[in-house]
Amino acid sequence: MNATPGFRPAIHFAAQKNWINDPNGLVFDAATGLYHLFFQHNPFGDVWGHMSWGHATSPDLLHWTELPIAIPEDERASIYSGSLVIDHAGTAGFGAGAWVACYTGCLRRPEGGQAQELAFSLDRGLTWTKYAGNPVLDLGLKEFRDPKVFWHEATGRWIMGVVLPEERRVAFYASANLRDWALRSHFGPTGCTSAIWECPDLIHFPDQDRWLLKVDTFEGHPAGSGAQCWVGRFDGEGFKAETEAFWADQGSDFYAALSFAGLAEGRAPVWLAWMNQHAYAKYTPTLPWRGAMSLPRELALAQTAEGWRLLQSPVSTEALRGTARHLAGAGLVDAAGDVLELHWELDPGKAEASTLDVRCGPGGESTQIGIDHRRGLVWIDRSRSGHIPSAAAWQGRREQAWAGASGPLALRVIVDRCSVEVFSGDGRVALTEVIYPGPASDGVAVLKQGSGDWLRSVLTLWPLDA
Ligand code: FRU
Repeated sequence: MNATPGFRPAIHFAAQKNWINDPNGLVFDAATGLYHLFFQHNPFGDVWGHMSWGHATSPDLLHWTELPIAIPEDERASIYSGSLVIDHAGTAGFGAGAWVACYTGCLRRPEGGQAQELAFSLDRGLTWTKYAGNPVLDLGLKEFRDPKVFWHEATGRWIMGVVLPEERRVAFYASANLRDWALRSHFGPTGCTSAIWECPDLIHFPDQDRWLLKVDTFEGHPAGSGAQCWVGRFDGEGFKAETEAFWADQGSDFYAALSFAGLAEGRAPVWLAWMNQHAYAKYTPTLPWRGAMSLPRELALAQTAEGWRLLQSPVSTEALRGTARHLAGAGLVDAAGDVLELHWELDPGKAEASTLDVRCGPGGESTQIGIDHRRGLVWIDRSRSGHIPSAAAWQGRREQAWAGASGPLALRVIVDRCSVEVFSGDGRVALTEVIYPGPASDGVAVLKQGSGDWLRSVLTLWPLDA
């Protein structure tokens, strides 16, 4: 295969070369104003293996600079997913202000034991030292991973949420020093339990006095793998759900999401995910890199008539916008481009369904975003979007029920060279899909389906220039 610069994302993070999967150790460094992204990375190849933490920074969550490998695999263990805390008080003994990465060490010989380990950095994440006393939490299990650690203000101690994948449980541990951990509670099995659980996150929304618990399931999501969530309360001991499980994103490619540590108090939580899924990730047709991250999204919780809802809106891309183009009513926009932001305002009137096709081109290639006004749902369909990495888990319409689909509505769509992310204006809908269209597929089309008339349709489209 030849290099594929045409698929290289313009505003999403991808490594310069080789494989990536989960985001790890996300942290905002207030002193420098830089966001740090660590990530699961194979430094030696474009398929999963030799897991190490890669590293990149960004001033704005849109432009990323890749740095040398932060925490490499060694003879003893691979470096699996985990999180990062800034230990302001030096509780772990690595010094005040040390950055402490808490990750799963996966033994190489004998193969496969998983335990939680630490590494620390005294230079704001540039260089790392593995803790000599590793592992810090070892149950002698083959599957025990993905620690999410944070400071719990109310009880004045560190909390770790970590998965027992095969039991479909999240275990919560507490610690005063990041080295000694005491089990406090378990959550699960509940929700989707048809496949292993991975990559927990627990996110506080102080304004609502609630927490969001997220855990990924390897299968069981309508599109394959995905992130299931609950809203509830966390008291420093255990999590109590107040909702049924729901999916954070109904698309195929939003996995292992992690939220940023270090954001200023009062700021909305921000998370991003690996924009892919293990079922076909190794067949995606890109070279010399493989895999990308989703756009970072701001999160909020809203209490609605139907209960708690998670609202997601991608970080602002306003600064990247070129000249706007407008399309009133149905029609076609030629040569719209392959890196785009689209806003669609629609009052469907009596229309049954409406569609917005992006990356349209020769041979009927397109990725279709649709709104079924009667059934109240939004869908995305990539079955004609170009190269198909493997038939299984790729085909099919991804749908999300949304009451807002039946009345006046707004959609916001971000198109990059190999992805489409769809959000409703109210933040309740999120659909993320990777696509591999041909280079000539750069059109956009808006159409009405069925006999009823729209009251209004206005599409605004900006090319985004990174
Ligand atoms: C999720 C995952 C994690 C694990 C990591 C290994 O994609 O399987 O559970 O820590 O990837 O790369």
